[in-house]
Amino acid sequence: MDVVPLKIMISGAPASGKGTQCEFIKSKYELVHIAAGDLLRAEIASGSENGKRAKEYMEKGELVPDEIVVMMVKDRLIQKDVQENGWLLDGYPRSVSQATALEELHIRPDLFILLDVSEEILVERVVGRRLDPVTGKIYHLKYSPPENEEIAARLTQRFDDTEEKVKLRLVTYHKNLESVLSIYNDVIVKVDGSLPKEEVFERIDAILSALCQKKLKTDSTS
Ligand code: AP5
Repeated sequence: MDVVPLKIMISGAPASGKGTQCEFIKSKYELVHIAAGDLLRAEIASGSENGKRAKEYMEKGELVPDEIVVMMVKDRLIQKDVQENGWLLDGYPRSVSQATALEELHIRPDLFILLDVSEEILVERVVGRRLDPVTGKIYHLKYSPPENEEIAARLTQRFDDTEEKVKLRLVTYHKNLESVLSIYNDVIVKVDGSLPKEEVFERIDAILSALCQKKLKTDSTS
């Protein structure tokens, strides 16, 4: 299949599987994955002032202020590799002001994927999530256990991955959801994210393949 530079946003509640699906999507469609949460965690790890401020908000499950996040994502979106290969924006925009900042730059997605997962499942996923600091791979103690003892021994947990904190993150998510969706009404597709991860990807893959075909057809007739 020809690879077309798609512009995709993926959204959903905390632990709905955005990062997991992005791994599948980027390996097949070769898009540049830009995850707002990962950019923020890298800023925290750098020890910068912005990183210190961001952590205060993340610990409370609140959105990090726009003056830190908007520039961070915008700077990444205008890089050459993103322009050439297309982008996969994960966890951004999460508020009307962030969406409006993109609109002002004429940055709109071909598709806005919304992963739909019930709250009960989300809490179980958050509590069991582990990360491999060496490879960056996401695991789950029950659903995606580590391949061997060596990996199991080095897995870490995110500072905001507790039941108490995920409930705060969920409140923030629901407060902003409808207003963000209203901006992307014409390109939203809802996918059942409660299925096993491979089945979720099968559904997303079918949608993205159809989108690629449509884009190729449009390009060849224009
Ligand atoms: P962020 O890092 O984006 O966190 P989030 O939105 O809460 O999402 P997660 O990363 O927790 O989950 P995910 O959907 O990627 O799930 P995953 O694939 O890992 O944001 C963190 C914080 O940063 C925010 O609270 C906020 O403070 C700040 N922030 C971020 N963006 C911002 C913005 N735009 N503006 C302002 N502030 C911002 O999966 C979860 C677990 O489930 C894993 O263990 C995985 O293995 C497992 N799993 C995944 N899919 C399945 C499946 N289908 N079946 C079974 N298990 C599965």
